[in-house]
Amino acid sequence: MPPDIEAQKRAAATRALTYVRPGMRLGLGTGSTAAYFVEQLAERVRDGLNVLAVPTSEATRAQAERAGIALSSLDETPQLDLTVDGADEIAPDLTLIKGGGGALLREKIVASASARMIVIADESKWVKALGRFPLPVEIVPFGAMVTQRAIEAVAVRAGCPGPAPLRKTQNGHVFVTDGGHWLIDASLQRIADPVALAAQLSAIPGVIEHGLFIGLACTAILAGPAGVRVVERA
Ligand code: A5P
Repeated sequence: MPPDIEAQKRAAATRALTYVRPGMRLGLGTGSTAAYFVEQLAERVRDGLNVLAVPTSEATRAQAERAGIALSSLDETPQLDLTVDGADEIAPDLTLIKGGGGALLREKIVASASARMIVIADESKWVKALGRFPLPVEIVPFGAMVTQRAIEAVAVRAGCPGPAPLRKTQNGHVFVTDGGHWLIDASLQRIADPVALAAQLSAIPGVIEHGLFIGLACTAILAGPAGVRVVERA
């Protein structure tokens, strides 16, 4: 039987709920795994749990609103206790690639405003080294091709000369983020030095943010066919 990935995502989200305490200010992640967390959190809220949440995307905002979770913004609630979010890849030091769902900018801002970030995923996201999943880089539409070339040049210097195309929707339109920006998905294959790459990408003027999350996740909850395991950052 193929592994039931959806059941694994749900199991990781269920474990993350055990970290939630009454009165907490929560960051709500984006993506299919985070959506399981929002769904289960909403059940607890309906049972009387009192929390206040800041969503990391319009999609998560809509889901949480429909489910009756009390929402706030970072302007009203600038310090959060805990963010629970998914990831596209998780390395053993809990460095992450995020942004496959296009929400990396708000995800990183919300995670940075949180005392703790827990990343939840099925085991397929656990990798020895980051880079097989193309790295999303959020860019300003103005001068996008210049920025794209600069990202490609950084990738070549990092020893990863893969393509770095502009993200398109299934209809062939340019993908636009919640912030009105565009995304480049840089195929890097293996990121030898995430810290150096992050610094070089951030130095490009048209780059708003990249999907490398370094030093943000404290805990990873990974669900596989054999059950759930918890990894703490050393
Ligand atoms: C959203 O922008 C992403 O960072 C998601 O957290 C990531 O793509 C994981 O999504 P899934 O849980 O759907 O795999």
